[in-house]
Amino acid sequence: MAKKPEELRSHKWLGVNDLRSFGHRSRLLQMGYDREDFSGKPVIGILNTWSDINPCHAHFKMRVEEVKRGVIQAGGFPIELPAMTLSEPFQKPTTMLYRNFLAMEAEEGIRSYPVDGVVLMGGCDKTSPALLMGAISADVPTIFMPAGPMLRGNWRGEVLGSGSDTWKYWDEKRAGNITEQDWKEIEGGIARSFGTCMTMGTAATMMSVIEAMGFTLAGASSILAADSGHARMATQTGRRIVDMVWDDLKPSQILSDQSVENGIVVHQAIGGSTNGIIHILAMARRAGLSLDLPQFDKISARVPVIANIRPSGKYLMEDFFYAGGLLALMAELRELLSLDCLTVTGQTLGSHIDGAHTHNADVIRSLDNPVYAQGATAVLYGNLAPSGAVMKPSAADPRFLKHTGPALVFESYDEMKAAIDDDNLDVTPDHVLVLKNAGPHGAPGMPEWGMLPIPKKLVRQGVRDMLRISDARMSGTSYGACVLHVAPEAYIGGPLAHVRTGDLISIDVDARRLDVLIDAAEFARREAAFMPPPPKLARGYGAMFARHVSQANDGCDFDFLEAGVPLPEVEIH
Ligand code: FES
Repeated sequence: MAKKPEELRSHKWLGVNDLRSFGHRSRLLQMGYDREDFSGKPVIGILNTWSDINPCHAHFKMRVEEVKRGVIQAGGFPIELPAMTLSEPFQKPTTMLYRNFLAMEAEEGIRSYPVDGVVLMGGCDKTSPALLMGAISADVPTIFMPAGPMLRGNWRGEVLGSGSDTWKYWDEKRAGNITEQDWKEIEGGIARSFGTCMTMGTAATMMSVIEAMGFTLAGASSILAADSGHARMATQTGRRIVDMVWDDLKPSQILSDQSVENGIVVHQAIGGSTNGIIHILAMARRAGLSLDLPQFDKISARVPVIANIRPSGKYLMEDFFYAGGLLALMAELRELLSLDCLTVTGQTLGSHIDGAHTHNADVIRSLDNPVYAQGATAVLYGNLAPSGAVMKPSAADPRFLKHTGPALVFESYDEMKAAIDDDNLDVTPDHVLVLKNAGPHGAPGMPEWGMLPIPKKLVRQGVRDMLRISDARMSGTSYGACVLHVAPEAYIGGPLAHVRTGDLISIDVDARRLDVLIDAAEFARREAAFMPPPPKLARGYGAMFARHVSQANDGCDFDFLEAGVPLPEVEIH
């Protein structure tokens, strides 16, 4: 049922005849707005994560104007709310440290201003889950405008993929197979336009998952950032949010166990980034849903990887878009999705994919011709990961899916970095590289250190994959036999803390096991000797992070931000 103007949230700020509203209106008039610009109209907050330091969102300066145009066309009043950009290539120690920061900024920005509905402009890795986490908690009508992937990379006619080819050619450079000049040319050709990474990294993963959960216009997540259709999508998004306000269509009506499961099904079918698991957990829990890590494994077991996109496959997001994009992929998955889930368009997910077709059956495969039959993600448990660990078998050398080898342990990233290129390092291809203290507390912020470099002496011998284990995350553009998110993490005394060089480590992905093969009494002795170190960051936001962040298997949200008692609506005094 359509809301009346006096029922708008912003009415309390702008519509009543009192002293405070006089102040609000006079300040809008100060900015040159006419009363007609805002009177009785839904106020649309546009959370824009544009920044000079974020190449993936470089087009947001233009796109925000296109969103505003749509809002005005539909009879709304747009206000831009700049939000912290989480620029994956530049922000240190890791954007993951600040995901919850942006989530809080988004929630509080919505709550504290006269916002009736919100457009979230995100895409670069953590920006998407952060913005949506905040909006879920604020629970005002919300639509997501994805940044879209950049164009394919190019080097001497060869297609280059973000991240994936960086690691690949870095190893070739370390092995002496390419020159400095080659490396420079690759640097200039790997990122050719604005937009997000164009492999199936965390950005493409989260934009796709968020669309599958129902938060974008149909097909929006696959449109290339540089395509004119992206600008049109931005305007349509602006138009749609105004209607969502009148219809009072909120995140709480869109998120359900089924819509989140749709997100996970898509996450598996696209061979999505392992980071997506942490973010989906966090988003679902913001909505009060009881999602846990084993559910990913259950869904993974019945969903094959059908997007032939790097790093699990061959192509890039540009090919995916031309092949029909996410709508075509979801049409292939039709029988595995809950099609009656509501979306921001007011229509069901099923109606979004009606009529969608695959235009290249090698890029978007059918269920009976998958890229990888078993699903993208495996959740492992064992005495090394009692609360779980994750792996992406589709991007690993298959011989490491069942393997036993001696551990080569690094207590920190710096220790690993100092040793890994040493020609005297005592390491064989069968060794298991172990990195400790790279989790939410240990690093801190759980950086993407999980794809440990292959030791240089082995790279020269042609070795390109090894079993690697850590409590870190890994970039979605990375690949290899990397076991990640080991929980509890080493820094707080998880079992990983007690592993020593030479201990035998055993993995069996089919059996979903990850164990260290040492005698229980010896393990207990090591546990008893563990002295918990102090938090890495002792003041400011970092101290708050250390006090409240949860482990990877719980989504790394802050305990006080998960769903609980709803906050009262702000009072206008
Ligand atoms: Fe922004 Fe990859 S660096 S999406």
